[in-house]
Amino acid sequence: MAVCAPGSFVFGEVSILKFAVIVLAAGEGTRVNSRKPKVLHPVAGTPMTAHVIQAAEALGPRQLIVVVGRESEEVKASLGPELAYVEQSEQLGTAHAVQQTQSNIRDEVEAIMVLYGDTPLITQATLSAMRERHAAGRPAITFLTTCLEDPTGYGRIIRGQDNRMMGIVEEAVATDEQKAIQEVNPGFYIFDPEWLWPSLERIETSPVGEYYLTDIVEVALADGHKVETLLAENSRETLGINTRAQLAEAEAVMRDRIRRRWLDAGVTMIDPSSTWIDADVSIGIDTILYPDTYLQGQTVVGERCTLGPGTLIRDSRVGDECKIVFSVVEEAVLEESVDMGPYSHMRPGTHLGRGVHIGNFGEVKNSTLGPGVRMGHFSYLGDATVGADANIGAGTITCNYDGEKKHRTVIGDRVFVGSDTMLVAPVNIGVEARTGAGSVVTRDVPPRSLAYGVPARVRDKEDSDP
Ligand code: UD1
Ligand code: CA
Repeated sequence: MAVCAPGSFVFGEVSILKFAVIVLAAGEGTRVNSRKPKVLHPVAGTPMTAHVIQAAEALGPRQLIVVVGRESEEVKASLGPELAYVEQSEQLGTAHAVQQTQSNIRDEVEAIMVLYGDTPLITQATLSAMRERHAAGRPAITFLTTCLEDPTGYGRIIRGQDNRMMGIVEEAVATDEQKAIQEVNPGFYIFDPEWLWPSLERIETSPVGEYYLTDIVEVALADGHKVETLLAENSRETLGINTRAQLAEAEAVMRDRIRRRWLDAGVTMIDPSSTWIDADVSIGIDTILYPDTYLQGQTVVGERCTLGPGTLIRDSRVGDECKIVFSVVEEAVLEESVDMGPYSHMRPGTHLGRGVHIGNFGEVKNSTLGPGVRMGHFSYLGDATVGADANIGAGTITCNYDGEKKHRTVIGDRVFVGSDTMLVAPVNIGVEARTGAGSVVTRDVPPRSLAYGVPARVRDKEDSDP
């Protein structure tokens, strides 16, 4: 018969134990069907395992170890070199993965929390409740359970009379009757270290040839040790990702959570369902996000901005009171009061000073534009430095690439670049100089002079215009 035992969080008045966290991320993840390790697939722009690590780190463990396996270099590079890693060279199962860390766990540690790297939705609050439960009773094992309408894929919780815990049965070896059980093991455990290490040795290989960590529950019960469980009421939090469909499910939950957080923090979204914010983004108060807007990576947005509709900003810093419409901004810095769009593209290395105006069809790459620069229509600035209050006329192009090398263009303060000017780099335009419409500037233009024609000739500004 299907058993789904209710339970509740009980908070003991206990001191917090010194604990270590082990995050298992060595599995092959074959069901995701990818060339990339499963644990690196992003959820809201961040590798799924990084979410697990963040939730655990928020509890302040004494140490945190990530178990990595094949292609471990890629996993380490993505999760960060500052973390402690242990290798599991052969993927012999979750019990075997935990065993690999034994010699790395410090003596002072009084409890060991084991988490799986494919459960990114877990929250600090739930882990913290588990830890309190464990500290209150000091059992051999405390672990989370949850109830699912469709328990397919999860280890099932076997209970006897009076709801007594009897063990966890993996789906691969479960009978049909056991498969009907809806209380499942979502894979969050805390162990007593002294008891754990010798007990892991007693786990035998399962019929499918893996050492299942879940078998440790029966080992504890056989010796008459205490095993505590805690029911996670919100089973969305404990979703394990084995397939791309589950990845999409986790993505939806995480995106909703992030939107909720920013709405509560004072950000307006005209249509939350078409507003996409990555986990590590931050947004200032009273900023308004219009539909179809994507804030990605490590983007930081200031206060009172208006972004979108139809805007993508990745790994960029946007100052207060910026206004961006139908544009793409990547690895760029925008100081305050920049306005842009529609249809402009800021590429890596762009730095726009305060009050810069970029109108339609502007492209800027690896260039710094001083405060007040105006570039209204159809222009490209690459590898350029532009002084304050310069005007970049319609259709201005920096010809920064000669087919082999890139060259710089330097434009002084208050320069007036006439429409359709080609600036053939390397070239310097001195302060307050002007270029005539359609000029092709191949040589430096002195300050306050005028360059005109093809190729451009220079005359002093005092002379009459051509
Ligand atoms: C596991 C649990 C199952 C639970 C489910 C919850 C076991 C035996 N089963 O099953 O009871 O319901 O999670 O999501 O633990 N890993 C290693 N080394 C290995 C094998 C796995 O590090 O040798 C890592 C994986 O990278 C993954 C995690 O352990 O992050 C869980 O492995 P996975 O194969 O996804 O286990 P499930 O079949 O989902
Ligand atoms: Ca899993």
